Amino acid sequence: GRTRHYKFNVVMKNATRLCSTKPIVTVNGRFPGPTLYAREGDNVLVKVVNHVKYNVTIHWHGVRQLRTGWADGPAYITQCPIQPGNNYVYNFTITGQRGTLFWHAHILWLRVTVHGAIVILPKLHVPYPFPTPHKEEVIILGEWWKSDTEAVINEALKSGLAPNVSDAHVINGHPGPMSTCPASKGFQLKVDSGKTYMLRIINAALNEELFFKVAGHQLTVVEVDATYTKPFKTDTILITPGQTTNVLLTADRGAGRYLVTASPFMDSPIAVDNQTAMATVHYTNTVSTTVLTTTKPPPQNATPVASNFIDSLRSLNSKKYPARVPLTVDHSLLFTVGLGVNPCPTCVNGSRVVADVNNVTFSMPTTAILQAHYFNISGVFTADFPGKPPIAFNYSGSGPSNLGTMTGTRVYRLPFNSTVQLVLQDTGIIAPENHPIHLHGFNFFAVGRGLGNYNPKTSPSKFNLVDPVERNTIGVPSGGWTAIRFRADNPGVWFMHCHLEVHTTWGLKMAFVVDNGKGPNESLLPPPKDLPPC
Ligand code: C2O
Repeated sequence: GRTRHYKFNVVMKNATRLCSTKPIVTVNGRFPGPTLYAREGDNVLVKVVNHVKYNVTIHWHGVRQLRTGWADGPAYITQCPIQPGNNYVYNFTITGQRGTLFWHAHILWLRVTVHGAIVILPKLHVPYPFPTPHKEEVIILGEWWKSDTEAVINEALKSGLAPNVSDAHVINGHPGPMSTCPASKGFQLKVDSGKTYMLRIINAALNEELFFKVAGHQLTVVEVDATYTKPFKTDTILITPGQTTNVLLTADRGAGRYLVTASPFMDSPIAVDNQTAMATVHYTNTVSTTVLTTTKPPPQNATPVASNFIDSLRSLNSKKYPARVPLTVDHSLLFTVGLGVNPCPTCVNGSRVVADVNNVTFSMPTTAILQAHYFNISGVFTADFPGKPPIAFNYSGSGPSNLGTMTGTRVYRLPFNSTVQLVLQDTGIIAPENHPIHLHGFNFFAVGRGLGNYNPKTSPSKFNLVDPVERNTIGVPSGGWTAIRFRADNPGVWFMHCHLEVHTTWGLKMAFVVDNGKGPNESLLPPPKDLPPC
């Protein structure tokens, strides 16, 4: 591979959406930010220069970072933040991955506007395992907030209540043609009749899982989270924050304009936002006055549509791209994920909403855990994260299992190369909710899912150990569970958290520490010289 250099200047920029203007944090003045292109095997160096008043870090979401945990990016997990006026070079090599991923700020709520696509092409002369598309297009789904998002979350943390929601969803930065502000034209995808296009769809929204549809057209799913899938056709895709999906779209309809929608999946008490984002697919041989063919987005809480989509996902599992599912398990873990309530004397109700994993509400340290681990600094974290729920849980919400959670900077330790089965069980003490859980440093195989309580006796018999989908972010169904498997072959400290930003803020996060192996290429590399100090 070759070496690619990028420069990311983090700067403020005024932006106007929904007929109002505000300053936003951006990379190079753009929203969404610039696309990072690389090929499998390339070494990527991104110099991030912080020109804003906030501390900043950037995460390369889904990039495995084999032995280069120092470049992963989550603040206080793998690095101390880049302070105002300072810079840091993220240096990593893309190993064994190709497809669409994305980068985003990994501190505070800055990722709302600080994000962009990562396009990893296959090695030179290696074709896609599907017909080469005529053109490719990045489609980034996001949110637009009229108010300052830092102010919104700080206010919520003070009151102990849930924060506000965004004012609109956006497609490539724009709410689209039917937004409440008439000035918004929205993103237009120009297509030639008869040609096939690959859409690299990214959900960069803070707090919303989304359905994506193109009126009158079928989408063929070929890749998720930078892993190839068995192609299948669908008219709707479900995509959670943190997930990426490549689809093929053939312009096989009559000339015209076709509506594209990104609409919320869940109508949860925490994140109600009815503003569907819109864009258009525009056949080039038509004039803009052509009538718009519209489509109805699935209704909110359309669980059958979601399940149908999730159940259709399979690894490609070809000779060239085999699914290496661990068939034996060294660590069998069961983690509950959910929301709870902790006392808060200074909050309006005397209590505040928290979130937890196995009843632990994670507290952020003030020194990066990776540094503490590498340099043996004590007092930063404890290795006592429970491998199973410390108290009985019930998804139906009848028990008090996560009222009054424990706190702590607790990690779970994994020996190098051990195999892990992790069952993520939703608990519904306040309200059952979908949780898109993201694991840093690894891809995992989604071997099973179900509703209700996971049953260790009967549930595993239905696991798919042949061609389960491989990814880095997985939705734990509301009132249900999901089981994943992975091999701990990447030494370092790896964050795992809900990719709904509000849940992460509330504490739905933990970290794995993976020890060094004994071989010459099985240890974490030493930290770079410019690693930011705390
Ligand atoms: Cu995309 Cu830890 O996040």
